[in-house]
Amino acid sequence: MFLRLMISAVVVVLIGPLVLAQTHTAVTKNGEKIFQQHCVGCHGASGDGLGPDIKELIVPPANFRAPKYRTKTDMDLYLAIKQGVLFSPMHGWADRLSDQEIRDVLIYIRSLAPFNPVG
Ligand code: HEC
Repeated sequence: MFLRLMISAVVVVLIGPLVLAQTHTAVTKNGEKIFQQHCVGCHGASGDGLGPDIKELIVPPANFRAPKYRTKTDMDLYLAIKQGVLFSPMHGWADRLSDQEIRDVLIYIRSLAPFNPVG
């Protein structure tokens, strides 16, 4: 009995985030447009952090495809986009993008590099 409970707890912990990640609404054209317009210069078309504008940057842009970022939750990334990262060229976008636009661009990023809690 106890073992069964433990197993279902482990399953919930492991599978839960995957199920949540899949409840996303579909990638919108808008998300892609915002990414192309505002983010691609640093983060690159494939999200690998190798955009054309990074030569001058001291801090390299996030490579969304790396385990470090694929293991971050949507909320982590959402807040980083909204508020920015301290002491980094990644400034917040709250003054330029609406919450809906931030969600759209976040879903687009996840389509380039899906959430992977196992790394
Ligand atoms: C001027 C270059 C630049 C632009 C433009 C830019 N970023 Fe970034 N971004 C960065 C850098 C640099 C980091 C890494 C920050 C760090 O680790 O200190 C980063 C990190 C991030 C992260 C991960 C933050 C974390 O640590 O969890 C997200 C998500 C992100 N950017 C999304 C976006 C989105 C969406 C856009 C467009 C709306 C965008 N960025 C535009 C430079 C940029």
